[in-house]
Amino acid sequence: MDHENVREVDPELADALENEIERQNSELHLIASENHVSEAVLDAQSSVLTNKYAEGYPGARYYGGCQYADEVEEMAIDYAEELWGAEHINVQPHAGTQANLAVYSAMLEPGDKILSLELSHGGHLSHGHPANFVGQTYEVEHYEVDTETGYIDYEGLKEKAETFEPDIIVSGYSAYPREIEWEEIQEAADAVDAYHLADIAHITGLVAAGVHTSPVGTVDFVTGSTHKTIRAGRGGIVMCKEEYADDIDKAVFPGAQGGPLMHNIAGKAAGFKEALQPEFEEYAQQVVDNSAALADQLQEHGIELVSGGTDNHLVLADLRESHPDVSGGDAEEALERAGLVLNGNTVPGETRSAFDPSGIRVGTPAITTRGFDEDACRTVADLIVKVIDAVDEGTTDETIPEVKEQVEELCEEYPLYDTPQQSKALADGSGE
Ligand SMILES: Cc1ncc(COP(=O)(O)O)c(C=O)c1O
Repeated sequence: MDHENVREVDPELADALENEIERQNSELHLIASENHVSEAVLDAQSSVLTNKYAEGYPGARYYGGCQYADEVEEMAIDYAEELWGAEHINVQPHAGTQANLAVYSAMLEPGDKILSLELSHGGHLSHGHPANFVGQTYEVEHYEVDTETGYIDYEGLKEKAETFEPDIIVSGYSAYPREIEWEEIQEAADAVDAYHLADIAHITGLVAAGVHTSPVGTVDFVTGSTHKTIRAGRGGIVMCKEEYADDIDKAVFPGAQGGPLMHNIAGKAAGFKEALQPEFEEYAQQVVDNSAALADQLQEHGIELVSGGTDNHLVLADLRESHPDVSGGDAEEALERAGLVLNGNTVPGETRSAFDPSGIRVGTPAITTRGFDEDACRTVADLIVKVIDAVDEGTTDETIPEVKEQVEELCEEYPLYDTPQQSKALADGSGE
């Protein structure tokens, strides 16, 4: 993989792109919302469909020359139907956030009420944070996780729904390590006649593979990002019951977007097709098994985990007990220097701030794509703790280079993309 065509236009830009390949190859990506797509997805995403305007939907476009755009979008929809089994699917949202906006704008009036999970308990900005358009347009209140157990407080949610009387309840989260009880939340929605939006951005792949229960068929709307655990082209998706199909389609286009990003929709089709192969189920199961192994090993080292473990692709570690003087931000910064890329994260009952939180979020989707198994994930946990201990003890100067070397060895053992050098060698015949 190289960027020779870009190099002819701008060597500096090509350097940045090739450095990013090297960075992804030589560091471990533990950000729970990231993954490494296949070269097939990259290929589809960089296709000439980037040139095509296709406003409208397959068979009903506002421009000519859309026959192949139609084919590609229909494939993406058909594959998505097979993966998630929804009655209606729109693959045009530019991202997960836009998918959520489409649902709100289709079903709500400005000033209507949204009940969603508190951001510092694992929610997402697009669920109604005041800094986001959603928080500024609708009246938002939050439910929480039980700070003792780390699990969603379903009873509290139901009580909140009774008093607040929301128009829509949002479930699905950014930093929640446990299985989500869709039925429980649906009961709360039914009791107050509210819509229910399940945002499965993080767990699209786990749901498609059946390693997390599906909200499809239980809730009114399901949204997601297509580049996280499902490992397809970058973007968003909305799924809904047939009765809402027209409203959702109109809310996406022309309501909130112009021409669809057809090259990304091609990337979605390629990734969805890959996810329909039997190996994807094995991958998704391995993501979860790896997360459990990593969680267990962190606990072996005395690290406290929110909810005491994980059922999905991520682990949320609360450093306050084991390392009271190390913030999630400090840990993130030191770990990145060691080639372990993750994010500092707020924890339920946060006592620091969103900018310098008390926890770290660790995800296994990307390292599982590289081929990591449970043993390798236990090693990753050992390395994470080694770095955090070093921050605590003020010994990072000695420890970080050591850990970085071990990370690089792991990266070599589980290679990712062809390097630009390998591609050049292949192109000029000097490589294998
Ligand atoms: C629960 C949830 N919803 C929506 C999004 C937004 O997705 P995107 O970045 O595709 O807009 C995220 C991002 O991580 C998320 O965690």
